[in-house]
Amino acid sequence: MSKARLDKLISDRTDLSRAEAKQAIRAGRVQAAGQVIRTPDARVDASLALTLDQTPLRGDSELYILLHKPTGLLTAARDSKAPTVMDLLPPLFVKRRCMPVGRLDKDTSGLLLLMTDGELAHRLLSPKRGIEKLYEAQVAGKLDAADVQAFAEGIALNDFTAKPADMRILDANDETSTAQVILTEGKHRQVRRMFASRGHEVLALKRLRFGPVGLDKNLPVGAYRELTDAEMRALKEAVDLG
Ligand code: URA
Repeated sequence: MSKARLDKLISDRTDLSRAEAKQAIRAGRVQAAGQVIRTPDARVDASLALTLDQTPLRGDSELYILLHKPTGLLTAARDSKAPTVMDLLPPLFVKRRCMPVGRLDKDTSGLLLLMTDGELAHRLLSPKRGIEKLYEAQVAGKLDAADVQAFAEGIALNDFTAKPADMRILDANDETSTAQVILTEGKHRQVRRMFASRGHEVLALKRLRFGPVGLDKNLPVGAYRELTDAEMRALKEAVDLG
């Protein structure tokens, strides 16, 4: 089993800085396997159960997060000026480098995965795997069968031709329409650009599913939760890591 300094383990697993972790240890607030340890440089087995103020600390296991992204936030690790999705997560997740898997535009809401598992994230985004993403769009104007057909054939945009995409009209009238679209790629503002090329401005866009993981209806906008074991297994299986 690997050993590490207690102050480092406490700092890695909490929001505390290294100096604050040392103070907490000296103050007797930290226990390892039920024993108070007051020496910050004690080398302890990294697999021991640690507590701070009697609260168990999670180990170094990977973090897998499902966030219900609101509109108005950038999908970026950090931006000194604009608010980002990282502002919705506890500082510990940021410190652990829990990163967004791909991007949603500032004006797009819905399901965003974040994780520390770089290999899984890389595979989920790999164009050759073609993981499905489901979006619901409200667009200006009346969608019709010709639009469905154009999506199914693949739409030529300025810099690339979008692959054939399944588009289903849920509701259409002269002012606005609602549709669901499944993409197997993720170019910049792709859904917006595909509808725009058909003369329909996207008024609202929400991601409902990423591969096998759907947006949790019980998760309020702006809230997050960890993925369930079943969701994590399904994601890994989808990219041959199962
Ligand atoms: N397509 C878009 O246009 N925007 C997104 O955020 C995601 C897909």
